[in-house]
Amino acid sequence: MEELLKQIAAYKEEIASTVVNTVDSLEAYRIKFLGTKGIVKNLFGEMRNVPNEKKKEFGQILNEFKQFAESKYEEAKESTDIGHQSSVNDIDLSLPEDSLPLGARHPISLVKNQIIHIFGRLGFSVAEGPEIEDDWHNFTALNLPENHPARDMQDTFYINQNPDWLLRTHTSSVQARVMEKQKPPIRIICPGRVYRNETISARAHCFFHQTEGLYVDENVSFADLKQTLYFFVQEMFGKDVKVRFRPSYFPFTEPSAEMDINCRICGGVGCNVCKHTGWVEILGSGMVHPKMLENFGIDSNKYTGFAFGMGIERICQLKYRINDLRLYSQNDVRFLKQFVNAV
Ligand code: PHE
Repeated sequence: MEELLKQIAAYKEEIASTVVNTVDSLEAYRIKFLGTKGIVKNLFGEMRNVPNEKKKEFGQILNEFKQFAESKYEEAKESTDIGHQSSVNDIDLSLPEDSLPLGARHPISLVKNQIIHIFGRLGFSVAEGPEIEDDWHNFTALNLPENHPARDMQDTFYINQNPDWLLRTHTSSVQARVMEKQKPPIRIICPGRVYRNETISARAHCFFHQTEGLYVDENVSFADLKQTLYFFVQEMFGKDVKVRFRPSYFPFTEPSAEMDINCRICGGVGCNVCKHTGWVEILGSGMVHPKMLENFGIDSNKYTGFAFGMGIERICQLKYRINDLRLYSQNDVRFLKQFVNAV
């Protein structure tokens, strides 16, 4: 007992004379006296050697010593403001910050946003619709009745539970949905994902993205169509772009045309992408078929319109030279990283 009391007195003196004025000395003090293997803990461990009748008295002495040691700690921390100092001193304000790992937009999103922006400047707003469609909006309303041979062109995924349901094969279905609700003037683009039952390869995929456009108003002409699409490719690919229109066929437009631009990959000299022709097809278009207008109660004597549809992957390919369609959906970070600074 006596031995212990002497030790405690000595520790008290030591505590009283210990200078604690820095973060390090405060921490050293804490470890020495108050830590899990510190002096206070050890002294409490001595309790088991103290005879029973003295335990109470010694317990009080120990508690008092513990408080003494703790109050020195608290005081030192407060009075020297070490707690505060530590947070300030630990920060080196001159260090360059950790650069945040910046994500990249997917090239499909980049191009989609550019398309939306360009047509937005011409007064087109964005319309969206469901990816699971019914037969009417994807086909019949677009002048593609059942058994129409052109349905074969679009290898459709049907949904087992309901033969009327399918995965939309083009975003023309959104045009149908808008005409259903809205009266002319209508000026929309419909970006979105579409599905076709194709074997996946570098050149084909079972899903891809389109942006279709629709403009219905009085006096809309083929000249408007040409000029709108010409403006679009100039904005997208640069003023030097050359275009040509070729007659084509779509059930929902009459007359119909496909638009080619001069190959952006080889500059027209000839390469795999343009199949050595110097021209690449980028979209289908035409004057909205009067029957389609009538399907939606729009007077085809008063109103005319044009429509177009393009694959976003194709625009991406020409813009960023992406040759394999599979890259878009594999999510390989090495591919995606390249678009961090892309515009
Ligand atoms: N829907 C057509 C397709 O998917 C594209 C298109 C849209 C053609 C509008 C003409 C007018 O191929």
